[in-house]
Amino acid sequence: MKVMILGASGLLGKALMREWLDDEIVGFSSRDVDIRDAAKIREMTETTRPEWIVLAAAYTDVDGCESHPDLAFAVNRDGPVNVADAAKRNGARLLFLSSDYVFDGRKKSPYETDDARNPQSVYGRSKAEAEVRLLEVLPECCIARTSWLFGMGGKCFPDTILKLGTSRPALDVVNDQRGCPTYSVDLVRAIIQLCRKGTSGIVHVTNAGACSWFEFAREIVARAELPTEVRPVTSQQFPRPAPRPAYSVLSSASLHALGVTTPTWNDALRRYLAEREH
Ligand SMILES: NC(=O)c1ccc[n+]([C@@H]2O[C@H](COP(=O)([O-])OP(=O)(O)OC[C@H]3O[C@@H](n4cnc5c(N)ncnc54)[C@H](OP(=O)(O)O)[C@@H]3O)[C@@H](O)[C@H]2O)c1
Repeated sequence: MKVMILGASGLLGKALMREWLDDEIVGFSSRDVDIRDAAKIREMTETTRPEWIVLAAAYTDVDGCESHPDLAFAVNRDGPVNVADAAKRNGARLLFLSSDYVFDGRKKSPYETDDARNPQSVYGRSKAEAEVRLLEVLPECCIARTSWLFGMGGKCFPDTILKLGTSRPALDVVNDQRGCPTYSVDLVRAIIQLCRKGTSGIVHVTNAGACSWFEFAREIVARAELPTEVRPVTSQQFPRPAPRPAYSVLSSASLHALGVTTPTWNDALRRYLAEREH
């Protein structure tokens, strides 16, 4: 199978390039091709001739999207439409990475794939609109929604906690946002299976289990044996430009229905901390 990765220099993109071993993988970063450039995307797809395109390129600065909405929609909605159009012309399949931020966070039980989108931020809106457009342009595309991504090769929450945890006696971390941490390595393994199975439609792909950011931080500090105290606080005490969903746990039912499972986030964190040591 020949696979074209867009966003190959990002956190997930690097993991895709590193971990996807048994197929022919060609990766492009934004320096190689800007997904806003429809003609160039078409040309690269024509010359690469992939069976699958995995679209991990995005403008992921959630707060930055609030102050740069034009850029957010150009990269996160219009760019994917360009890629879907190129995929359609060349008979390639497309797997698009989307986000838990397409939901409003008001639910009290895990979000299913057919729950209504109701994004509260510009980033979430740009992803939600991309999903709708992609399903119009390329109905057989696969939309893999993930959340709270961490791993090697990019900025991520565990790294921030480990850095602050070595220099501060106490850390205040929000305890009123609940979600599913997801290790890039486990996400890649699931993506490979989704492509091999020829998956269409929306799938939720995260590590198993859920926690608050406070609980996640407490686990990181405990596993790293740092002396720092982790204290629970509310989102109100930490106002951010973009609102975050209070609850964005994604149900694993869609993934399990395909016969794909993921390890728990605690186990994923253990393996990530070990990977960091090497
Ligand atoms: N991080 C999370 O917690 C999270 C949660 C849910 C969903 N997701 C989704 O998962 C996917 C991967 O996220 P990530 O954390 O790996 O992102 P990331 O580390 O921010 O990487 C983004 C990638 O997109 C590329 N890119 C940005 N603008 C581009 C453009 N105009 N044209 C072409 N490439 C462009 C970047 O290239 P350069 O490095 O060259 O700029 C980089 O390779 C994204 O779709 C994201 O929305 C992420």
